[in-house]
Amino acid sequence: MAILDQQLEELERRKRESELGGGQQRIDRQHNEGKLTARERVSLLFDPGSFQELDQLVVHRSTDFGMEKQRVAGDGVVTGYGTINGRLVYAFAQDFTVFGGSLSETQAAKIVKIMDMAVKNGAPVVGLNDSGGARIQEGVVSLGGYADIFLRNTLASGVVPQISAIMGPCAGGAVYSPAITDFILMVKKTSYMFVTGPDVIKTVTHEEVTKEKLGGAETHNQISGVAHFAADSDEDCLATIRELLAYMPSNNMEDPPRVQTRDDINREDRNLDTFIPENPNQPYDIRELIQTVADEGHFLEVHQQYARNLVVGFIRLNGYSVGVVANQPAFLAGVLDINASRKGARFVRFCDAFNIPLLVLEDVPGFLPGTDQELGGIIIHGAKLLYALAEATVPKITVITRKAYGGAYCVMNSKHIRADMNFAYPTAEIAVMGAEGAVNILYRGAEDRAAKVAEYKEKFANPYIAAERGYVDEIIEPRFTRRKLITAFAMLRNKRDRNPPKKHGNIPL
Ligand code: HXC
Repeated sequence: MAILDQQLEELERRKRESELGGGQQRIDRQHNEGKLTARERVSLLFDPGSFQELDQLVVHRSTDFGMEKQRVAGDGVVTGYGTINGRLVYAFAQDFTVFGGSLSETQAAKIVKIMDMAVKNGAPVVGLNDSGGARIQEGVVSLGGYADIFLRNTLASGVVPQISAIMGPCAGGAVYSPAITDFILMVKKTSYMFVTGPDVIKTVTHEEVTKEKLGGAETHNQISGVAHFAADSDEDCLATIRELLAYMPSNNMEDPPRVQTRDDINREDRNLDTFIPENPNQPYDIRELIQTVADEGHFLEVHQQYARNLVVGFIRLNGYSVGVVANQPAFLAGVLDINASRKGARFVRFCDAFNIPLLVLEDVPGFLPGTDQELGGIIIHGAKLLYALAEATVPKITVITRKAYGGAYCVMNSKHIRADMNFAYPTAEIAVMGAEGAVNILYRGAEDRAAKVAEYKEKFANPYIAAERGYVDEIIEPRFTRRKLITAFAMLRNKRDRNPPKKHGNIPL
């Protein structure tokens, strides 16, 4: 029997109604606040025309507080799948125009449905969060819905990449879904995240604080480290998600996609030979070295504003994704501290879970001394980075550009913790500590202090003792860094390594 025009019209009417969400007035309000609507966001996130919406006609089943008279098809979230850079991705986008995007039992079921599909079909999940939290009219079923999502986030962790964008409010326990995912992006000025908001804080502790200060994009990118990216606008945020996904495989059973590059794999840069300053105390920006070596000079920095003494992010070498972890001599002399260790460990574990080889660039004077650090637990936090690098089984390459002192030498992907290839520049200094500190301990009060310092420097401020032991595989001329890395990563392409069978390790959390 042919479909009647009437039936098509009915379908069309229902879809149009759903697309209007909470109505034009609320859409205008969303726009006036500088925010896009859920559907506008989804259409920018996915390749044009590729998004397939599911459950567009789902409505809530609540009958309390007159809710039976307020049913909007879709129930405050747009869910579905499509392609990003040609690859399958699932997404949900909360629609703030419908009950403030709040999470009902049915909204949660829609989100859970696409998360289950993503894991089954091996594709990333992107969550665009913009919600007033648990749907107040629904009570505990809404809380149950959140817990259903948290469980999915946890089980999907390390199986498919999960990315969360915060594009409006995200408060209360709702923050814990993004927190379990791999990357959090926040839009400046229009997004915030906190467990308890300013009003509750005022009642309980009498502190007065604004939403922005408590949980805005700047706070979470610079101070707490909860967020990995701060975007200038919704458009910027969505473009960053597309770029970020391009470095990752769709799931943990795949390798990241290779991208065509026109950059010469043998490209050398003579400037690198003089890039590391002669004076070991003179800073330089490690990002310049990363960009020089990377395909097309492109580096997607992650956690750019947090713990700036360690730089992490993605580059490509000969078209292959590489995760970079680098000490930053231009900030706090590149010292390792609590925040840098946590930042590095989390990034390393992401790369290892998703088959992204690691490049460690080392110029580190050691761990940061001080009561703040010791009382703050640098022992346990520093151990995170050590643990993460030691357990990683992806190809791992280190380049020691200058200092590799003390425990930091061991931690920063040394040969001893299973690095596959350890290069050093001729400028490398590999020792228990710097010459001044060593002489202070070995020759306390000695009159010929300067001579002793010179002697220690002569003996240890170089890479040759490590090379004699095979702790360093090759001392390379800096200008050839790109070629050396590409050749070594190609050699490691079929690397097979595994950890002993276990339920899971016990990383020092
Ligand atoms: C139902 C909600 C809602 C909610 C907002 N709305 N939050 N409806 N449940 N949680 C509705 C409003 O009634 C309003 O409807 C519309 O969404 C827009 O809200 P406004 O308040 O007008 O917007 P705005 O001024 O921008 O303020 C946004 C807000 C505020 C800061 C998010 O709405 C707010 O404080 N909401 C409550 C937040 C909250 O306490 N949530 C529960 C947290 S506990 P109309 O019809 O007027 O458009 C939680 C627990 C999670 O989430 C636990 C997980 C384990």
